[in-house]
Amino acid sequence: MNAPAGRLQPTPGQLALAAALADGGTAREPRITYVDAAAYTDPARHVAEQARIFSRAPLVIAPSALLPEPNMAVPHDGFGKPLLVTRDRAREAHVFLNVCRHRGTRLVEGREVACGPRLVCPYHAWSYALDGKLVGLPRGETFPGLDKADYGLKRLPTREAGGLIWFSFDEQAGFAEADALGHDFDAFGLAGLHLFRRRTHDVPANWKLIMDAFLESYHVLRLHASTIGSFFKDGVSTADTIGPHQRSAVGRDVDEAAVRAGDWPTLRSAITYTYQMFPGTVLIVSPDYVNLMVMMPQAHDRVLVEDFMLIPEAPATGKALRHWEKSWALLDGGVFGSEDFRAAALGQEGLESGAVERITLGALEVGIRHFHDQVEARL
Ligand code: FES
Ligand SMILES: [Fe+2]
Repeated sequence: MNAPAGRLQPTPGQLALAAALADGGTAREPRITYVDAAAYTDPARHVAEQARIFSRAPLVIAPSALLPEPNMAVPHDGFGKPLLVTRDRAREAHVFLNVCRHRGTRLVEGREVACGPRLVCPYHAWSYALDGKLVGLPRGETFPGLDKADYGLKRLPTREAGGLIWFSFDEQAGFAEADALGHDFDAFGLAGLHLFRRRTHDVPANWKLIMDAFLESYHVLRLHASTIGSFFKDGVSTADTIGPHQRSAVGRDVDEAAVRAGDWPTLRSAITYTYQMFPGTVLIVSPDYVNLMVMMPQAHDRVLVEDFMLIPEAPATGKALRHWEKSWALLDGGVFGSEDFRAAALGQEGLESGAVERITLGALEVGIRHFHDQVEARL
C-alpha cells in the first residue's frame, strides 16, 4: 500500500502556500475581529450545533490506517450513537449503526479493532459479514419467511478518500469536499501510512476552543515555548480554504530556495501543513509523521478528542520504536495534552465566569473568525 515517497508530488495548492510563506506569509485580513463568549458557554448552542452541523455534515471518523486489512471492524461511540466502522473482504469501508437487527442489541462491544469475517451478536448469535449482510441465524426455521436481505446492518453514507474515512448521519450527504481534500492527502501518501498509536482525550472545554488552537500560529512560540516553539518562526504562516475547510502552512525554517525546489522532504522539513476540516477534524503534517485529531463534542463544555499518529511504516527495530515513541510523547502528551488542550480547558473556565463578553482576535488569528462564520452560517 505504501507509495514510494520519492514519487509523491505536492499539489499546486500546497505549492502556492509554500510560495506565500517564502514571501513572509500573509495575514489575510489585517484587522481585529471578535467571537461572542456565548458561542462556547451556552448549552443551547451545543444542542443547535448537534442538530444543524454534526447531524448533517460529512464527518471524519478515522484514518484508513485504523483498518489496514480486509475483514476488520471497530466500534465507535463518540458521536452519540453506537457506530461500527468496518472494512469488508473487498476492502470497502463502511460505517454502520452497531446494532443487531434481531432485537436491537449492541452488536460489537468495547472499542478495539476486531478481525474476522463475521460479527456475531452476543445475544442469539445472528451473524453479519463486514459488508453488513446478515449471513446466519441459529434455528432459522423458527423465522418462517424471513428474508435475510431485509436484515442487514443499518449503513450510514460512507466515503473513503485520501486515507480518511468519512460518514454522515444525513442520508442526503454529499462527499465532494472530502474528495477535494483527498486529492491533497493523496499528494503526501496518507492512505499508505501506518497507524502507530491512538488515544482519546476527554477535555473539559467547548470543541471550538480546540479548533481555535489549531487555527492560529500566534500561540506557537508562547504556549509551546518548552516543546516545539523553537522550531517555528513567529507568525510566519499563511492559509486558504477548500469549501468550508481551511488549509494552513506554518514556517519552521523557510528558506526561499528550498521551498522553490518543491520536493516533499524539503517542504515538510521547512513547513508544517495543517488542515482544519469542518466541523471538527485537524490534520497536522510534521516532517516525518502525521497526526489526525477527531473532535466529538459531548456537551457545551466537554469534548472527546481522538488523536491518531500515522508513520511511514511499522517500526522494524527497537531504535525505530523508541524514535516514534518519543515523537508520540512530545506531540500527544506534551504539545496537545499538556498545552493545546490545557489552554482550551483554561479558556472554558475563564469564559464561563462571564468576565469576557467576547474574545478579541488579531490578524494572526483571523482563521478562527472564518471558522466561526462557517459554524454560525449553519445555525
Ligand atoms: S439481539 Fe442479536 S441475535 Fe438476538
Ligand atoms: Fe498549539
